[in-house]
Amino acid sequence: MLGAPGGVAEDRPAHPDHGSPLGTEPDLLDHDTGIELAPATWAIGRLLLRRHANIEWLRGDLFAADWSGYDLVYAFLSPVPMAAVWAKASAEMPPDSTLVSNSFEVPGHEPDAVIDVGDRRGTRLFLYRMGARGERRSG
Ligand SMILES: C[S@@+](CC[C@H](N)C(=O)[O-])C[C@H]1O[C@@H](n2cnc3c(N)ncnc32)[C@H](O)[C@@H]1O
Repeated sequence: MLGAPGGVAEDRPAHPDHGSPLGTEPDLLDHDTGIELAPATWAIGRLLLRRHANIEWLRGDLFAADWSGYDLVYAFLSPVPMAAVWAKASAEMPPDSTLVSNSFEVPGHEPDAVIDVGDRRGTRLFLYRMGARGERRSG
């Protein structure tokens, strides 16, 4: 998965993205890191992204990456790992950073915003603003 709409501090990269880049939006990104676990999907992603020099495309496990240096993390996974995604984002992401989940909500946490993309698959993006010391902002 990929995506980094604006607001990127110059002293750190935009965000790590997790999953494949199929059908996503690399042209929106200033600088981005994508991480994909599955070898075949990663290989397809490398082909699709070969002309996007702003994107670092890695094969690996998103949970092994350090998310602390990123303003935005975009995940397109499944319902299963969302609690673990939340735990990692809460522990590592800096204040005022944003966690974006394509299609799957974090269980037990209301998103700060929901974006209906308006595409054919009815994609919804769930946005969570991360707070100081990894805790959600209260207001
Ligand atoms: C729902 S698919 C995303 C599909 C794709 N992003 C698209 O736009 O169509 C989830 C992707 O996340 C990858 N994935 C699952 N767990 C992962 C992990 N721990 N680290 C990195 N990628 C992972 C899967 O291999 C799969 O390609």
